[in-house]
Order: sequence, then C-alpha cells, then structure tokens
Amino acid sequence: MTGDRPAPSSRPAAGRQPADSDTAWWRRAVIYQVYPRSFADSNGDGIGDLPGLLSRLDYLASLGVDAVWISPFYRSPQDDNGYDISDYQDVDPMFGTLADVDALIAGLHERGMKLIIDVVLNHTSDEHPWFTESRSSKDSPKRDWYWWRPARDGLPAGSPGAEPTNWRSFFSPSAWQLDEATGEYYLHLFSVRQPDLNWENPEVRGALYAMLRWWLDRGVDGFRMDVINMVSKRLPLRDGPPLPGGDGYGDGWASFISGPRIHEFLRELHAEVIAGRDGAPLTVGEMPGVSLDDAAVFTDPASAEVDMVFQFEHVELDRDPSDRLAVRPLRLTSLKASLARWQAGLATAGWNSLYFGNHDQPRAVSRYGSADPAHREASAKLLATVLHLHRGTPYVYQGEELGMTNYPFASADEIADIESRHYYRQAVDAGQDPAQALAALRRRSRDNARTPMQWDASPHAGFTTGTPWLPVNPNYPGINAAAQAGDQDSVLSYYRRLIALRHDLPVVAEGDFTLLLPGDERIWAFTRRLGATELLVVANLSDGPAEAGIPAGRDWAAAELLLSNYPPPAAATLVLRAWEARVYRRSGRAQPPVG
Ligand code: NOJ
Repeated sequence: MTGDRPAPSSRPAAGRQPADSDTAWWRRAVIYQVYPRSFADSNGDGIGDLPGLLSRLDYLASLGVDAVWISPFYRSPQDDNGYDISDYQDVDPMFGTLADVDALIAGLHERGMKLIIDVVLNHTSDEHPWFTESRSSKDSPKRDWYWWRPARDGLPAGSPGAEPTNWRSFFSPSAWQLDEATGEYYLHLFSVRQPDLNWENPEVRGALYAMLRWWLDRGVDGFRMDVINMVSKRLPLRDGPPLPGGDGYGDGWASFISGPRIHEFLRELHAEVIAGRDGAPLTVGEMPGVSLDDAAVFTDPASAEVDMVFQFEHVELDRDPSDRLAVRPLRLTSLKASLARWQAGLATAGWNSLYFGNHDQPRAVSRYGSADPAHREASAKLLATVLHLHRGTPYVYQGEELGMTNYPFASADEIADIESRHYYRQAVDAGQDPAQALAALRRRSRDNARTPMQWDASPHAGFTTGTPWLPVNPNYPGINAAAQAGDQDSVLSYYRRLIALRHDLPVVAEGDFTLLLPGDERIWAFTRRLGATELLVVANLSDGPAEAGIPAGRDWAAAELLLSNYPPPAAATLVLRAWEARVYRRSGRAQPPVG
C-alpha cells in the first residue's frame, strides 16, 4: 500500500516538533477545527484549500490555539465533502498537494502548534481501489474487506425488503446497496458511496495502521478518528427494532455502536500506531451514541485506547430521537446536567473533549445563545466562557471565535449537505409541509456551519475571489475577523483572553468541577478547584437580568474578577446582566486533591 508513494524521508523538511516529553500536552491545550473547503480559498475556484489555510497561520497563532484539527483533504469524489476517501495517502487536487501538507506541518510547528488530521477508518469511498477490487468478483482477494451479503433468505435480490438487514442508513433509506454485477449487497451506514470496511479482517486493520504510521512519519501530531465506535459490528448482522414511520426500516444501532470488539480494536490500533512514538500523538475518537461508562474505558490512560472522545449527549438534547430534523425545546437544566454528568464520570480516569460546534452542528451562538444583534456578542462570549471553563480539552470550530451565526436559507436548493438533503427529501416524501421542513433545516442543517469563513468586509468576506461553493452569510460586513482583530471588546479578543487563561492557570486545565444551582433555568454556575485556588464561573443565559442565588454569593462577588464579557459590575452582587458571564478567583485553604 505504501510502497508506491514517495517515502516520507524524501519530502521537503517538514520540521517536526521537538520531542515532547509531556505525554499529556493536550490536557492544557485548545484545539481549533478547520473545515478546509470553507476556510480560505487561494486560487479563486470558490473552494477553500491548503495554500489558503497556510496564508492564515498567523491568525491561528495569534488566537493562541495549541493545535489544528483539519477535516479531510484526501483524494475524494466529495460525495460527503471528503469523508468519502478514495486515497488516504494523497491530497485532493481541489485542496492542493502533499507538499502543501508538508508546508502546513512545518508552518504550524514553527509557530508552536500541532496538526491533527481527520481519518475516516469506518468506510472508504466507493472509488477507493480497495472497493473497486472488492466489488469486482465474489472471488476477489479483497472481497472480504467490505461487508458483502446475499439477499435475505427466500427473496430475490433487489426485491422490496430483500436487503440483508432492515437497517436504515444515515444518508439514504437502506444501509445496503445491491451490486448488480455479483448480485450481492454491500453495507454502507452512510451514503451509498461510503461502503463500510470490514474490521473483522486483520488485513484491513493492518492496511489502515500502516497508513496512519505513514502520516505520523510525515510529521502529523495525531488523529481525529471519524465514527470510530462503529467499526466493530455485532455478528451475525441482525435486524433492529422497527423505526417509526412504518416504512419497514429498523434501527441497527445496537449492531454497530461500540460493538463487541471495539476496545480490542482500539487497543490494537494504539499498540500498532501510537505506542512508543515521540511527541505523544493525540487520538480523539468521534463516537456517536457512546455511553459514559464506555467513554471512561476508552479514555482511561490505563486502557491505551484513545485520549478522548467526542460524545454526543449534549448535542442530542434538542433533537427529536424519532425525527432527526425535528427540534425539541432545550432546557438549560438538561444541558448543564449533561455536561456535569460527563465531568463527574471522567473526573478520576479518562478525559473530556469540550465542544458546542463543529462542521456537523449548527452554529453554537444561534443554537444555545442568541443571534439577536442585541445579544449575539455577549452570548457568544458567554458560551465560550462556560465551555472553556469546564475540565477537558476545548475545541473551537472555525468562525465560532467571531460569533458566526446560522445562515438564513431561503430555499432547500441553497443547501448542499448530503445529510440535510436526504432528510428534507424524506420529510417531504412523508407528507411534511416543505416550508416546515425548510424551517427545521434552517435551524439544523450542517451547512449552517459550512458557509465560508468571514475574514473581512470585502466581497465574499475575503474568502474567495471567485464564486464561493456555498453562499457567504449576508451578515459578514458586520461579523468578520478584520473588524474584530484590533477591537479589545470583540468576540475574537475575548477568545484570545480565554485561551490564555487556560494556559496560565492550572486550575482551568486540571481543577475539579462542582455544578451549582442545577435547577436554575437561567443561571449556569459552577466552581473549579485545584489546591488552594478556586474559581467561580457564573453566567446568565437569558435576555434580562438574573441573580445567581449561590451560597456564599456575597463573598464571591467581592473576590477577584478574572474575566467577564461586560464592564465590571457597579455593585458587588451576583445580579447578572443579559447574557453576562463572569469568572471569579479566590484562594482558600488547600483542599486534598481529588482522585
Ligand atoms: C462524521 C463526520 O463528522 C461527518 O461529517 C460525516 O458525514 C460522517 N462522519 C460520515 O463520515
């Protein structure tokens, strides 16, 4: 697999980070996510690219982040914007070249930042040579690299209900696609163009580990592993319970979420790829549906599986489980209880990742804050304060540091995302009013996060000189990086202070966590404590004033105010203004360390 590639040693010097003796550097780190097609376009084709990203490294350095996670840039037919990979060891020409990746590694390392690449190990593109070979015949030596199954007993292939199991796919009706040439079906949990790899086959795992080692040899500093808890399937593959809708599809979740060999596979990956490497490469596993108990095992250093997981509990609270497009009202009490539950669950072993936004989620400020111009900036800063002051590694999704908002989609035709288009079609086919389905997409669609980065007030927000692949949010003249860079009161400047706080204060990174006022629907308050240092974080998630009725509130209000998104309060009280957030510090008696 790697033999026909230029050996990493022949590449231009990429400038490896000096050997990092700190094996848990990521516990004090803030990681910035770049979605390359929407970040910066260098050649006017309307699609962001690696040279565009290279031209913005000083911006990232000035934000103070420690590492960049970049979504896939590999060769791909782009059915799912690069999460369908046809060559793991080359760069799609739309994004640049391998030399650009080398320059990216070097440019980040020179500035003291690391590069985390996004690897999709659960599936490939249907154009990957492994799949082309696998589908060529039932006798192919790679046949067993993917999940091939005959039609259900007694039913002719292609007839209704003949799929090997009743599972619904995330991006299409059935999770099985009939391949006419051999008369068998292949499994694709995502789009028909994303066939699932068969991790039961040791050759598959070996080829993936070799590829990951090749990237580490090239100088990358870690991996974000896409839907990694789906790689172990429960055998035999069986029907799942019927889903609502009466269309015959079932929920296969129990057959592929954290399946029976998942811990074994991740331990093997760690042993084969990560163990013994300089620089403590980071592994973060994206894990839809992961339970807290499982996450504690996945992220316990003693397990040697992954360093942290992206869990989904808090971003599912406002979703209707039976209808991915439908929005359920979100209660603050549920949101903060969920985060607190994970804080407690991973307090003594394991580690949390902290995120509100990424390329699959709507914009955090529109979802959890207020996009109302009167409150947008304050609420963006508030959300950042609350998130970054939890214990764990915070992730900043591009544009979040500017307070970028959801896009006002006027028609479903403006939406490019395969998931949104699928759910819209499904809803309308099932009789839903198209206006209602569009309203849901406006709140939900992944494209809300994928509109181009807003760099300045020039045409297309300075993202491209051409026509952007997805429209730029019309609010860019007021919300852009150039306008915020020199403004001490901007959301961007606030993020810089917040990120510096984590680097400067061990209590932010390592302190223990206690939720206060769990029943309050407006105030989010908690303390952090490390030795003799204690922080109080208190925030008002409402459009009017609210008082935080916490014990010892008067003492806290007289303590040192470390950070706030408002000018200091006139009186020493915990009456907070609309969307106000404060971080107080005080020193007390040293407490015994927890854990
Ligand atoms: C999770 C990724 O974040 C998402 O963008 C993608 O569509 C699916 N996995 C499938 O790879």
